[in-house]
Amino acid sequence: MTATPVARDDRPGEPTGVLARGTDLQLNHYGTARLPFACVGGRGLELDVVDLDPARRGRRLRLLDASAGYASATLGGGHPVVRAALARGTGVGNVTDELGSLERAALLDRLLGPDGLWTAHFPVGNYHVSGRNSGSEGNELALRLVLESRFDGRRLRHHPGKERRDTVLAFQGAWHGWTGGLVPLLNRRYYRAGLPTPEAAGPYGVRVDHLPFGDPDALADYFAASADRLLAVVVEPIQGDAGILAPPPGYLRDLARRCTAAGVLLVADEVLTFAKTGDWFAMRDADGPVPTDITVIGKFLGMGAVSTSMVIARRELAVRSSGAVTTSDLRPLNCAVIRDGIEHIAAEGLLQDSADLGAHLTEHLDHALVDDHPDVFTEVRGTGAMLGVELSAAAADRIGELRSALIEAGVYAEFMAGAGKRSGGRRYVHPTLRIVLPLNATASQAHEIVDRVAAGARALR
Ligand SMILES: Cc1ncc(COP(=O)(O)O)c(C=O)c1O
Repeated sequence: MTATPVARDDRPGEPTGVLARGTDLQLNHYGTARLPFACVGGRGLELDVVDLDPARRGRRLRLLDASAGYASATLGGGHPVVRAALARGTGVGNVTDELGSLERAALLDRLLGPDGLWTAHFPVGNYHVSGRNSGSEGNELALRLVLESRFDGRRLRHHPGKERRDTVLAFQGAWHGWTGGLVPLLNRRYYRAGLPTPEAAGPYGVRVDHLPFGDPDALADYFAASADRLLAVVVEPIQGDAGILAPPPGYLRDLARRCTAAGVLLVADEVLTFAKTGDWFAMRDADGPVPTDITVIGKFLGMGAVSTSMVIARRELAVRSSGAVTTSDLRPLNCAVIRDGIEHIAAEGLLQDSADLGAHLTEHLDHALVDDHPDVFTEVRGTGAMLGVELSAAAADRIGELRSALIEAGVYAEFMAGAGKRSGGRRYVHPTLRIVLPLNATASQAHEIVDRVAAGARALR
């Protein structure tokens, strides 16, 4: 394996002027860590990028995308099934959620109707669905469903027994999205400092508590002390931003059991985990699906082509009828893309394939990164299409250099923040390289990515 597997093309004439100017016009929320590259094409796992760094402006690189478009490129770039669905979906009429739509009905019936693909998780007749544009918006709707479950939507009177239920439980290290309503669910200072928090006092007040994730004793103690004030729990079944952290076996089922027993709503944020753990949903264990009141899915749901999320909620959870339209709730175009993508994944057995590839890749990452580069990588975690490789403390301090070295080695990769310092004597979790592969990725593509990451790590020395 050499460190220069990328096709390079230094020909002049690339429209770098417009690329540089236009890229600079986009609000930069990465600060100095923003990568100086712009993508000009892509197919499958490949991205063609142009270097915008003034010292190397115009240099072209062909990269392998180890992030799968930040965990959204379900079938890689330009997949024929997705292209065909996009073409069909633009010709079926666009209607808001006020009118039904054939594409929307066909999708929901296929997923949740009799013989639906997802009825093991969501028994027929018990759930209804809404669509949003992003994972963040999906979680906002979930939170709203939770809050509105406390009172009568018309007269705003509390349902009996709900008066004291003012607390939402979230977990340390969680990431649920960008938007204002979600900020209180995030416990890390740099995600929330200076941003508004909800009013805790008054009849509609809300408090948020945070527990260490995956600690059964902390959960038991918390429920024993506070279950009567608890309205809902919001959980990522595998924490993503915290560094691909899975809870111990039995933890999610125990959580669901406690919620049911105490009349607490359980919200699973599966925006990231959807279709990445060898199953459609990560809320499951050896005994089958773990029941939830609300499940939010996103990222892979849009097949890398449309930005969309879905909120699957128990039918009794609803929002007040305000007459307001949701312009983009399950757009027919989105539904066409989702339905065809899901049919393709099911027909080709891609969930199982990705689980098999993930198991194989875990071993390979252990050997080629952790064993061979212990100065850079310390632990491999994850399952199926979603794996994390934690950085050493020394490498975490040089993350910018590492990203650049990876790009020079021909791979674009993303890094999760890591859980950082955790309570309860749990160890610090450093930033973590996240490798997400499209569900149709091959073993040789996966190996090529690992080889390139290893070459980047070598170059860091
Ligand atoms: C678990 C989880 N929830 C929610 C979100 C937010 O999704 P979006 O970026 O589509 O708003 C993300 C995105 O990374 C996520 O990983």
